[in-house]
Amino acid sequence: MTAQIIVALDYANATQAIHLAQRLDPSRCRLKVGKELFTASGPAVVERLQTMGFAVFLDLKFHDIPQTVARASRAAARLGVWMMNLHASGGSRMMVAAREAIDQESHHPLLIAVTVLTSMDEESLREIGIFASPPTQVNRLAALAAHSGMDGVVCSAQEATVLRQAHPQMLLVTPGIRPAHSAADDQRRILTPTQALRAGSDHLVIGRPITAACDPAAALADILAEMDRAAVGSG
Ligand code: C5P
Repeated sequence: MTAQIIVALDYANATQAIHLAQRLDPSRCRLKVGKELFTASGPAVVERLQTMGFAVFLDLKFHDIPQTVARASRAAARLGVWMMNLHASGGSRMMVAAREAIDQESHHPLLIAVTVLTSMDEESLREIGIFASPPTQVNRLAALAAHSGMDGVVCSAQEATVLRQAHPQMLLVTPGIRPAHSAADDQRRILTPTQALRAGSDHLVIGRPITAACDPAAALADILAEMDRAAVGSG
């Protein structure tokens, strides 16, 4: 499957998000709407981006009782989003309820599970009663997500190699990507787009290297060119 870039629209309001989207080509990237933008601007911004031709990943990371997550997932499906996500740590009953709710709709977004947030380390897992290393917990939750009918998982590119082998059919959606020439910002464990592809990622979530560039379209084109070279090199 061809890897695709998902540009993270981490903005405080719809005006800024739409302004950036107007500088991008919907045939060359997809867009991610997260909690900040969605809380500030609601479904209207998602509808507007879709009207502009963009496929939208609604990154709201649902985690609640099964019925609530099922109903929220149904609402996301009705909004027409391309991809949405929830926390695998909500358990199999919650994930299955979301899957069933989406499957009853006419439009079926891809349903992706977050395993362990990359902001959490062994100490923060211990704090909430989980006495496993982050990689062990990631593998456990990815397996649970696969058995619960999820289409894929969000994972760091470092986790992608192991997850790709264990779950060949699952989509791997990978943030924390930095082109070789760009700043790390607050990301710690970063990989270049080429490294992420080689590790088995299907979709790369990229924010500031594109959104903060003087010419976002040119920054995107540079990254796509790097990915094409990687594809040719490995083919
Ligand atoms: O600007 P940057 O490329 O760091 O943005 C990455 C995006 O991916 C942000 O929207 C961030 O919230 C999200 N993300 C992440 N790490 C995760 C999960 C999501 O950086 N583990």
